[in-house]
Amino acid sequence: MQRQPVVIANWKMNGNRQLAKQMAEALREEAGLLSQVQVAVCPPAVLLPAWQQHVFYDAVHLGAQDVNEFEHGAHTGEHSLALLGEAGAEYILVGHSERRQHYGDTDARISAKVNAVLDYQAQQLKVVLCVGETAAQREAQQTTTVVQAQLSAALEQVTAAQMTHVIIAYEPVWAIGTGKTASPAQAQEVHRFIRSWLQQKYAAAADTVPLLYGGSVKADNAETLFAEQDIDGGLIGGASLEPDAFVAICRAAVARS
Ligand code: PGA
Repeated sequence: MQRQPVVIANWKMNGNRQLAKQMAEALREEAGLLSQVQVAVCPPAVLLPAWQQHVFYDAVHLGAQDVNEFEHGAHTGEHSLALLGEAGAEYILVGHSERRQHYGDTDARISAKVNAVLDYQAQQLKVVLCVGETAAQREAQQTTTVVQAQLSAALEQVTAAQMTHVIIAYEPVWAIGTGKTASPAQAQEVHRFIRSWLQQKYAAAADTVPLLYGGSVKADNAETLFAEQDIDGGLIGGASLEPDAFVAICRAAVARS
């Protein structure tokens, strides 16, 4: 099964309007190349309008780093799907380890967010579900148990038909922002596990789900990671703040297509 490669930038709490302009310009130069890869950028939500101003071409999509699971109401500081959608977001990250660790995203909340994105009627949105183990869990040989528990909680109510709007990002916590990348073989092993878990639950619908690797992906290691059979692209933090590096990573994904 040939899946189109996907590369998603996660700016976290970084970047500004100027970087949005620079990055949009750098990507525009690559428009031909980028027609072979799905590229999305998730800036801080307040920068979505700045991005929208510059990304008037189809090759780059916008996304949000998180969403509130409720439609609207008294949720100070949060963003609804309606607001994010109106600001141009088509991809919504859910369950990033920084949200799980520091901002109270429990499995139950993550599942509620996943369902909210997939059930949203006004617009078709894609959910990018992040899973991954900590260093201690890996050392204790619990990687697949942890990943499986995260997947089954988050996708409990998700149907096979809805899986066409789901992307999964395997992001080992110990590799995020640390410069310690999982080796291609380590990443592939977990991706293979995720793919077979999805196949058991969703049969053929599992084959269309892009599986991204995230955790210190850089211009110089992207190609070997993306060469693995079950690694369909990447979720990129630090390197997505440097236009040249990010473009190089997108190129590495195109090489896979
Ligand atoms: P990193 O972050 O590329 O800076 O390790 C990845 C992520 O957290 O999505």
